[in-house]
Amino acid sequence: MSIQEICRVVRNEQLGDGLYRLVLDAPQIAAAAQCGQFVHIACGEGNLLRRPISICLAENGALHIVFQVKGSGTEWLAARKEGDALDVLGPLGHGFDVAALGAKPVFLGGGIGVPPMLQTVKCAKAAGAAPRAILGFRNQGAVILEDEFRAVCETFVTTDDGSYARHGFVTDVLKELLADATGVAACGPKPMLKAIAALAKDAGLPCQVSMEERMGCGIGACLVCACALKAENGETRYGHVCKDGPVFNAEEVEW
Ligand SMILES: Cc1cc2nc3c(=O)[nH]c(=O)nc-3n(C[C@H](O)[C@H](O)[C@H](O)COP(=O)(O)OP(=O)(O)OC[C@H]3O[C@@H](n4cnc5c(N)ncnc54)[C@H](O)[C@@H]3O)c2cc1C
Ligand code: FES
Repeated sequence: MSIQEICRVVRNEQLGDGLYRLVLDAPQIAAAAQCGQFVHIACGEGNLLRRPISICLAENGALHIVFQVKGSGTEWLAARKEGDALDVLGPLGHGFDVAALGAKPVFLGGGIGVPPMLQTVKCAKAAGAAPRAILGFRNQGAVILEDEFRAVCETFVTTDDGSYARHGFVTDVLKELLADATGVAACGPKPMLKAIAALAKDAGLPCQVSMEERMGCGIGACLVCACALKAENGETRYGHVCKDGPVFNAEEVEW
């Protein structure tokens, strides 16, 4: 069930160039949130539609969201100050099923797809698994949340240009970890998810991916967020990323 909550900004912290973390006092949404879900945030009078942002952490009544400034909505969010009120709808969507990923899951995040994997790694650990994380970024300036991941699990970092940590893609590291893994889950750009899904399939491992589509209502009523899925008879069917997703079994997705 989704909740509409007026949340106070506890902290707005700049993490990097155009990258922000907002910590919100959101006791009701935080208590109901599951890893991989998102919230839909009203971004001021000039922006008619709410903006979908993943839940990075939900603990002790606080909701952490991490976002990149892209346009007017995220610019408005970036300008929020301590004590400001935000109209937040959530938790929304269908998150990660960490129990289905076994005792040694590998979690991958790419760029602004990294934040939701933090709560997911914590969920897996709390459920008794031994998670590992692989985080990929464009370059050193885009690296976020590394320390928080390292505090929870073994963490590997890659950069596309080699300006920090290992030079290469998250899939280069995944290939080395697959032999000892029981499942894979990921959030990030679609080409990255597609490559991860193919590797997991070849290794015979369950794989869950968090998909991103433009959104209108965020609750399954407008069809803006349709994404192509495989039907059981082999034909294409359409699902709602906001309601059926954002997390899907990779084998369901029509890549
Ligand atoms: C399930 C989900 C989770 C997301 N989680 C995060 C996150 O944790 N951090 C983060 O930085 N970004 C996240 N995004 C992307 C984020 O929603 C967009 O960057 C944001 O809506 C852009 O709004 P804007 O007004 O700044 O940009 P504009 O481009 O001006 O937006 C115009 C319209 O397009 C929509 N839109 C634009 N880009 C996207 C997009 N990529 N996905 C969905 N709608 C879009 C906006 O909601 C708005 O209605 C997520 C998207 C989805 C679907
Ligand atoms: S955003 Fe309206 S149906 Fe998904």
